[in-house]
Amino acid sequence: MSHVMNTYARLPVAFVRGQGVWLWDEQGRKYLDALAGIAVNTLGYAHPRLTRALTERLASGVLHTSNLYRIPDQEAAADRVAEITGLDEVFFCNSGLEATEASIKVARKYGHDKGIAEPAIIVMEKAFHGRSLATLSATGSRKVQAGFEPLVQGFVRVPLNDLDAVRQVAENNKNIAAVMIEPIQGEGGINVSRMEYLRGLHEICQKQGWLFISDEVQCGLGRTGKWFVYQHAGIAPDVVALAKGLASGVPVGACVVGGRARGVFKPGNHGSTFGGNPLAMTAVVTTIDTIKEDGLLANAGRVGEQILSSLKSELGTLVAEIRGRGLMIGVELKEPCGELVSRGLAAGLIFNVTADNVVRLLPPLVLSEAEGRMVVERLAPLVADFARQAQPKAAAH
Ligand SMILES: Cc1ncc(COP(=O)(O)O)c(C=O)c1O
Repeated sequence: MSHVMNTYARLPVAFVRGQGVWLWDEQGRKYLDALAGIAVNTLGYAHPRLTRALTERLASGVLHTSNLYRIPDQEAAADRVAEITGLDEVFFCNSGLEATEASIKVARKYGHDKGIAEPAIIVMEKAFHGRSLATLSATGSRKVQAGFEPLVQGFVRVPLNDLDAVRQVAENNKNIAAVMIEPIQGEGGINVSRMEYLRGLHEICQKQGWLFISDEVQCGLGRTGKWFVYQHAGIAPDVVALAKGLASGVPVGACVVGGRARGVFKPGNHGSTFGGNPLAMTAVVTTIDTIKEDGLLANAGRVGEQILSSLKSELGTLVAEIRGRGLMIGVELKEPCGELVSRGLAAGLIFNVTADNVVRLLPPLVLSEAEGRMVVERLAPLVADFARQAQPKAAAH
């Protein structure tokens, strides 16, 4: 019996070697990875530049010193994150939930600073922000929350893409300090915000003096063809939460602030022992520099577009919808399709299923056009067969 705590329903496969977008299991079987460890392995596997930088960092002997001292790598990483986000101050942590938790704290502190005794945050239906008590309370999934009540208070939930719902809250609730949104929801099923909705939401935030918090833990860092989804909408958020792809496999998160949120946190308001340590910061600097130098934003946009349009033409009306942006793609089936994941593994393709019936693709940003075609060649027949088998059954019921 394994002593690993039973919090995941794991598949019986272990990957032991990687190169580019390819993984090998213990038996030497080769898989095309269209999931990247859930949007983490930005540069794929064994990218020579990342391997070199991390090896040099290890050889220096200094993996960690603590935030009691200056950390030059952290300063370099913060400069880069500030540049690509267009914001001003970066707090480094170790995971996505820490980035969203810090964002929630910034919003509460901002509210208190404005004289709101019980500040509240508008959050979206089907959102996922993490599994700490505050972030699971912000998450729009009863499955994630059940068993952990009492929930943290101070969240008001509205449907995604519904500006009227937000206007109504603005009229009736004077405690709102911020809105937190994943501009493309990941766990919720690749639900894409309309760009005019994001602009409208941003305008309301400006008018009301609320913080606009963009949770780009999953959709950010170049995956959609720009560094961040809010850049497609042409807006500047006050807070951005980052993690996953930020360091290409080394655990890192970041809460980035600018605009009205600048200067809200003062010394003593927040902290993290590991956050921003030299090992992790080396990976951040190298990941960002490599995305730039290898032209991975344009690559993600181009290859993603090619996959999306091929899937649309191959699967057409067999599925409910195919949606996404860049290398963040969801194929919504008309029925639950969790079993497709192991069929995918048998066909040498790694992806997952979220929200019960959405096949999710989040490949490394180094995926080439040829590899993108292979993703479609492997995935489309699996989905088509599954949909054809399932639909007569559904019709018979
Ligand atoms: C949008 C979003 N926010 C926050 C998180 C939480 O990240 P982590 O699992 O690193 O705590 C996730 C994880 O899936 C996410 O997709």
